[in-house]
Amino acid sequence: MQFVDSVFQLRETLKGWRSAGLTIAFVPTMGNLHAGHLKLVEEARENADKVVVSIFVNPMQFGVGEDFETYPRTELEDNQKLRQTGADLLFQPTVTEVYASDAKTVVTVSGLSDMHCGLSRPGHFSGVATVVCKLFNMVQPDIALFGTKDFQQLAVIKTMVRDLNIPVGVIGVETVREASGLAMSSRNGYLTNEEKQIAPSLYQALCQAKAAVQMTDQPYSSIEQAAMTALTEAGFQPVYFSICRAEDLSKATPTDNNLVILAAAKLGKTRLIDNLAFSLN
Ligand code: PAJ
Repeated sequence: MQFVDSVFQLRETLKGWRSAGLTIAFVPTMGNLHAGHLKLVEEARENADKVVVSIFVNPMQFGVGEDFETYPRTELEDNQKLRQTGADLLFQPTVTEVYASDAKTVVTVSGLSDMHCGLSRPGHFSGVATVVCKLFNMVQPDIALFGTKDFQQLAVIKTMVRDLNIPVGVIGVETVREASGLAMSSRNGYLTNEEKQIAPSLYQALCQAKAAVQMTDQPYSSIEQAAMTALTEAGFQPVYFSICRAEDLSKATPTDNNLVILAAAKLGKTRLIDNLAFSLN
């Protein structure tokens, strides 16, 4: 696996691959890689000739008081995992390589960025859209892979790609979970032993709400409220729990068929998100 930290070196390598007619898949990450990230790399390998992975802890998507400084940076382990999984190139730029100090352009996907996680993390999705747009321009991949674990992020990126005619095929990859059902996340490492016992309840609440949607006539608002109460009783501070239309993440009504239940909850200092998408009938 090749390692580059400058856009110049990146472009030199990619130029060679492209002129040899090879297709390129791209997996953007913030590092501290786990089996969820590696699943994206494996799917990338199956769908293209070369796989580029980026590791960049993007300051623009962290709010004031969030965990940018303390976000786990595990370069050696990440490098080894990527080698073992068969990535061809690791791009790990510094903040100054990515952002000009007087940068004036921000990419914002309006509407979608303001709901759910966007309400409690203002500016977060503009930070994500801007860095992903920049990384797409640096790598110019044929396809890029993202986890459905970050369902709203994936929706923001798909919309940005459509609206800006970015010539990249965006592929969503299913969430990888622990045996307990807990969605793998770099932030799970923040959990204390006691919190680790509680954390799987978030996925359980999603499964229970899905069953209630499928098998009862309860109004969606009652199902959401019951889940918020169950999460609070389990020891979480729930941020939101919303039964949504999968297409645009707006509130679902009983006539909608393609649904996603989106949830965020704090457990001590750790903010966890998860979701469950399904169709009725
Ligand atoms: P990060 O949290 O490192 O995640 C990188 C990619 O891995 C994202 O597409 C995310 O959805 C996916 N992922 C995370 N946990 C997963 C799991 N349990 N199963 C499957 N996929 C999972 O998301 C980001 O970084 C950043 O916002 C980024 C897109 C890199 C922009 O900075």
